[in-house]
Amino acid sequence: MSDASLEQPIVTEDNHLKRTLGPVSLIMLGIGSIIGAGIFVIAGTAAAEHAGPAVLVSFIIAGLGCLFAGLCYAEFASMIPESGSAYTYAYATMGRFMAWFIGWNMVLEYLVSSSTVAVGWSGYFVSFLQNLGYKFPAEFANAPVAGTGFHDLHLTGAFLNLPAVLLILFLTVFLVVGVSESARFNALMVMIKTSIVILVIIFGLPYVHASNLHPFIPPNEGSFGKFGITGILAASGMIFFAYIGFEAVSVAAQEAKNPRRDLPIGILGSLAICTLLYIGMAIVLTGVTNWRTLDVPNPVSFALGKIAALQWIVMPINIGAMVGLASVVFVGLYGQSRIFYSMARDGFLPPVFSAVHKRFRTPHRGTIITGIGAILFAAVLPLDILADLVSIGTLLAFVAVCGGILILRRTAPKARRPFRTPFAWFVAPAGIVTCGLMMFSLADGTWVRLVLWTAIGLLIYFVYGIWHAAPSKWKVLNEP
Ligand code: ALA
Repeated sequence: MSDASLEQPIVTEDNHLKRTLGPVSLIMLGIGSIIGAGIFVIAGTAAAEHAGPAVLVSFIIAGLGCLFAGLCYAEFASMIPESGSAYTYAYATMGRFMAWFIGWNMVLEYLVSSSTVAVGWSGYFVSFLQNLGYKFPAEFANAPVAGTGFHDLHLTGAFLNLPAVLLILFLTVFLVVGVSESARFNALMVMIKTSIVILVIIFGLPYVHASNLHPFIPPNEGSFGKFGITGILAASGMIFFAYIGFEAVSVAAQEAKNPRRDLPIGILGSLAICTLLYIGMAIVLTGVTNWRTLDVPNPVSFALGKIAALQWIVMPINIGAMVGLASVVFVGLYGQSRIFYSMARDGFLPPVFSAVHKRFRTPHRGTIITGIGAILFAAVLPLDILADLVSIGTLLAFVAVCGGILILRRTAPKARRPFRTPFAWFVAPAGIVTCGLMMFSLADGTWVRLVLWTAIGLLIYFVYGIWHAAPSKWKVLNEP
């Protein structure tokens, strides 16, 4: 079979994709990939370890960073309404090397975040089993290593996180045989997730006690990131994870009815709705119980479960969180296999990633490699290490996107921009500064891991990509 015919199914599929997604579906798509382990798990750790009730402020800082970056994404998405997201934008505007650099960081954003959310799923799964009276052996539900810093890494005595591994395995098989997520399925997932979040806010609010929220900013305990102002900053770097996903709207460019108008609406709309929901959740989580107790794998069901009158809500939260988190893992694995597919077609990766299965018409090999990668990460690393790595990589991609917008305003000032980032010369630098600050607030170990990750990426680029990648087919032209 020739390369062309191998590629055909996906191309045909793309061409045959009906442009069915309007602004509401696109917002739903965004919410579908945003709400996940960030709010259901990481918010608890961020409050307990770094910010206390002031985690609310961290949510606002992270949300602001995403708003600035989101406005820049929206301009790009309206100019280049093609799938591939930041990778494609970089290819079109900043050349081959930056395209690879950003694409490689997007592996963190999609593949490693799938592992992260699968680990979060595992926590709620174990709690769900516990509700049913079954205790899942801890040594098979936890990572063998722990510690976020560079020097405090240690063995935990556990073997692997089996539930997380099995979830990814299961979803990978689904993806290989071509069960794609339809807009209707996504809408159902979003309904379940948001209903649970709204349920928690409505039923939890009456049990918020001012005493739990006082002092709002616990005093710093002597080191950077341990409460106080630096704690708020450190928590915002972690909380940023909760917002990742809004830019996935841009991946649906080819299915949008009116991409140039609706992609920005989808990106910014989903971001706004999630920010409001997150603020409500943060108040409830830290207000109904002592926030110091929230560093558990299932903080939401844990906190509400402490209220005698709300016992009935624990099971729905566990089930809703499991369904919601599984859908985020699914979207992540799907997105990653498609990004690998685009990168292989552009020559950055070997053709194995763009091979398409004859019968299933899916990039099966790339999907399997994605699944194996995600399984390896999820099996052995704890949620905090994974989440911080995802956040730092994604923040770096956001910084690049904000920078890219400014570059384009200079190099292609007359290009058609159906959506123009308002006050670009303020918004883009503000995005760079906010995202940069969040990056700096992350643990030193995360930086070391980012450097390692980048080194591996550079190696692949110089051994393979540089020799095979073609010049970009996307050109942003100045209109006459
Ligand atoms: N924002 C997504 C989550 O919180 C990645 O799970």
